[in-house]
Amino acid sequence: MVKKIYIKTWGCQMNEYDSDKIIDILHEYGGYQKTDSYKQADVLILNTCSIRDKAQEKLFHQLGRWKKIKQKNPKVIIAVGGCVASQEGKFLLKRTPYIDIIFGPQTLQRLPFMIEKKKMSNNSVIDISFPAIEKFDNLPKPIANSVSAYVSIMEGCNKYCSFCIVPYTRGPEVSRSCDDILLEIIELTEQGVKEIHLLGQNVNSYYGKSFNGKTCSFSELLYLISSIDKVKRIRFTTSHPFEFTDDIIDAFKHIPKIVSFLHLPVQSGSDRILRLMRRLYTINEYKKIIEKLRIARSNILISSDFIVGFPGETERDFKKTIELVEDICFDMSYSFIYSARPGTAASKLEDNITLETKKERLSILQNKINEKSFFYSKMMLGTIQNVLVEGLSRKNKNKLCARTENNRIVVFDGSFDMIGKFVKLKITGYKLHSLNGELI
Ligand code: SAH
Ligand code: F3S
Repeated sequence: MVKKIYIKTWGCQMNEYDSDKIIDILHEYGGYQKTDSYKQADVLILNTCSIRDKAQEKLFHQLGRWKKIKQKNPKVIIAVGGCVASQEGKFLLKRTPYIDIIFGPQTLQRLPFMIEKKKMSNNSVIDISFPAIEKFDNLPKPIANSVSAYVSIMEGCNKYCSFCIVPYTRGPEVSRSCDDILLEIIELTEQGVKEIHLLGQNVNSYYGKSFNGKTCSFSELLYLISSIDKVKRIRFTTSHPFEFTDDIIDAFKHIPKIVSFLHLPVQSGSDRILRLMRRLYTINEYKKIIEKLRIARSNILISSDFIVGFPGETERDFKKTIELVEDICFDMSYSFIYSARPGTAASKLEDNITLETKKERLSILQNKINEKSFFYSKMMLGTIQNVLVEGLSRKNKNKLCARTENNRIVVFDGSFDMIGKFVKLKITGYKLHSLNGELI
C-alpha cells in the first residue's frame, strides 16, 4: 500500500518551499504520497515558524490533536521541523515525548535516514544542526506543481536584526552555487514553469560559486536566469535595504523579465528605531533606493514589512512610520506587532509599550496601508494587464485566476487551455487584494 504523509506548514514562503521539498524527498525515498487527511497518514509532519506569536503554545496545541492518532496507531511517525524545532530541539520532548523526529530547516534532507533510524529504536531522533549547503546537494529533481515555482538561492542570515530569531534558527548565510540554481530552473521550465520566484532571507547578499571557480553576485545571477528563454518572469523575496546596490537597481532597467514589483522591508519610519533594530540603513538611504528604482523602472510598486510597538517606540517614532507610508505610497504591505523572541538582542530591552497601544498603532498603520493598496487597485481599473494564468479560481471553479506583476490575483472567464499561459486582461473590478478582469 502507498504510504502517506500529511504536512502542515506555518509561516513564510521559505517554509512552503521546504515543505514541497520534504514531500519530494519522501516520495523518492519510499514512494510516499501527500494526503490532505491527517487521519490517513503514516507520517505526520509539522513544519513550524517561530518568527512571531506564541509559537510553542501553538505547536503543543497541534501535537495534542495528533497524540490521539499516535495512541490508536503507535506506528504513525510524528516529526516536527522548522524554526521552533531548531530553537527548542530536545526540550520539546519534555512536554510532548511522543514526537518521533525533530529536524531543522537545514536537515530536512536527512529525513529518510531519520525515519529509518526511528523505526529501529524507541528513542526520538533529533538533528537540528546546520550542515552548510548539504541540504541543496541532496535534494531530488524538482517537481513543478504550478506555472510559478519557488527556487531557494540562499539560506540563513548574518544580519542579526535585534528583533529577529531567523539567524539563530536557520543558521548563518550560505549561498547555493549558481550552476545548481540554473539547473534547477531549467528543470522546472522543462515542466512548464514560466515564473521563477527566487527565495532567500536576504537575496541581495547572495554570493555563489560557479563551476569555473568564479563567484556570482545577485545581479549577475539575475542576468543569467533571464537568459534562459523559457523563463518569462522573475520575482524575488526578501531583499534587505542594506546592500541593495546600484547593480541590482540597474537589473530592473535592463531585465524586463523582472516584475515591476519589489518587497523591500523597511520595518519603521524612525531612524532612532531603525538603529535600535540594527537595520543598518537610515530612512534617507531607504528613500534614495526607492527613488533610483523609480527612475530605473517608472511603474515599479514597492511593498514592505513594518513592526509596531518595538521597545521604546514613541508616538513620534510611530508617526514617522505613518508619514513614510504616505510618502513612499507602498503597495500591499505586511505589518506586525513586535513580539520579543527568546535570545534576541531586543528581548533584553524593556518591552514597555502596552498591548493596547500596540494594537491601536497596528490598526492605524493597517488602515493606512490598505488605503494605499486600494489606491493602486483603483488605478488599475480599466487598464490592460499582462497576466500569467495560474489555474482555477479557488472560490469559483468555473473561473480562472491569474497573477499580475504586482502580485494581485485576477479572476476572469476563460478556457482551461489558457492555464500556464500569459494573456491580456482588462481590469473590470477590484477588492482589497484581488481584481476581476475580462479577456481582450
Ligand atoms: N528576511 C526575512 C525576514 C524574515 S521575518 C524574509 O525573508 O522575509 C519577516 C518579517 O517578520 C520581518 O520583515 C519583520 O517585519 C517581521 N518580524 C520578524 N521578527 C519579528 C518580531 N520579533 N516581532 C514582530 N515582527 C517580526
Ligand atoms: Fe531577520 Fe533581519 Fe535577517 S529580519 S532574516 S535578521 S535581515
